[in-house]
Amino acid sequence: MVLLTGGAGYIGSHTAVELINAGYDVVIADDLSNSEESVMERIGRITGKTPAFRRIDVADGAALEALFGEFEIDSVVHFAGFKAVGESVAQPIKYYRNNLDTTLTLLETMKRFGCRRVVFSSSATVYGEDNPSPYVEEMPEGRCTNPYGWTKFMVERIMTDAASADPEMSVVLLRYFNPLGAHESGLIGEKPNGIPNNLMPYITQVAAGIREKLSVFGNDYDTVDGTGVRDYIHVVDLAKGHVKALEYAEKNTGTEIFNLGTGRGTSVLEIVDAFERVNGVKIPYEFAPRRAGDIASFYADPSKAERVLGWRAEKTIDDMCRDSWRWQKGC
Ligand code: UD1
Repeated sequence: MVLLTGGAGYIGSHTAVELINAGYDVVIADDLSNSEESVMERIGRITGKTPAFRRIDVADGAALEALFGEFEIDSVVHFAGFKAVGESVAQPIKYYRNNLDTTLTLLETMKRFGCRRVVFSSSATVYGEDNPSPYVEEMPEGRCTNPYGWTKFMVERIMTDAASADPEMSVVLLRYFNPLGAHESGLIGEKPNGIPNNLMPYITQVAAGIREKLSVFGNDYDTVDGTGVRDYIHVVDLAKGHVKALEYAEKNTGTEIFNLGTGRGTSVLEIVDAFERVNGVKIPYEFAPRRAGDIASFYADPSKAERVLGWRAEKTIDDMCRDSWRWQKGC
């Protein structure tokens, strides 16, 4: 059985779908601090199989121990963690406490139960602001621009050291680029708390009339049209990457790192244009100053994941825009 910590969230729920579709038994542990229990039933509607669910905080050692006692868990995909960049700057201790505690408690409990396989939900943010794009896995990690990023950096380090100390352990670190979109059923997707920080949830809320207009942060970057460029990847492609990573972890020991991106950069204005064209809705926007901590452009070299895992992203920016809007309309 595969344990998904934080499996009720945006990326976790899509990964649950793909793992179940691939024949895995899944149990989800989530404290629902940024998600809802109704996701289980929705995963069930998509796959025909509702995953087991326990509402626990993964940093709670006794609760996690009980979970490992109840289910025969042979692999873990670790998503549980806080992820709002701005909040992490304002409340760094909360981020370090939560993101590190969940990881340490998880690794201790895994060790006690002889579970030695873990896939970690990391981020391209660990490349930092000084590395040039395209980012390749062999680059030394850079200076992160915020505490959220540093927690990803630190968890990567902790897991790598744990695997170095245990020759039977298998760790796969997945560095995500910018996930967008939703399941094409419209049943699961990203549900931000309050005002969205990330681009696509903001755009879909403007389209839905919840927000008046998009602020485009910076139009004087050295990019195709002056706006920020990112490597946007459809969340279903990303989820499928986890299935491949788990298959890899089942056959190998040690630590391996993979970028999950498309290798293509898209600007903010290109996203706005695609969204308007595909969905036939207008997105009013205005240019605003650069956002602190943003960099002009970054994108992946995804060739290692293709070579080693046999995985590549298949969906397009148009798919991402269409699926994000379908999900928003259903909310
Ligand atoms: C950030 C994090 C990344 C994290 C991701 C998803 C860093 C450096 N980046 O990525 O690690 O995985 O969030 O949580 O820590 N934009 C606007 N207007 C908006 C919102 C965004 O113009 O209202 C622009 C941004 O300036 C940027 C692009 O859209 O150019 C993407 O921004 P966003 O979706 O927030 O993701 P990142 O900052 O790239």
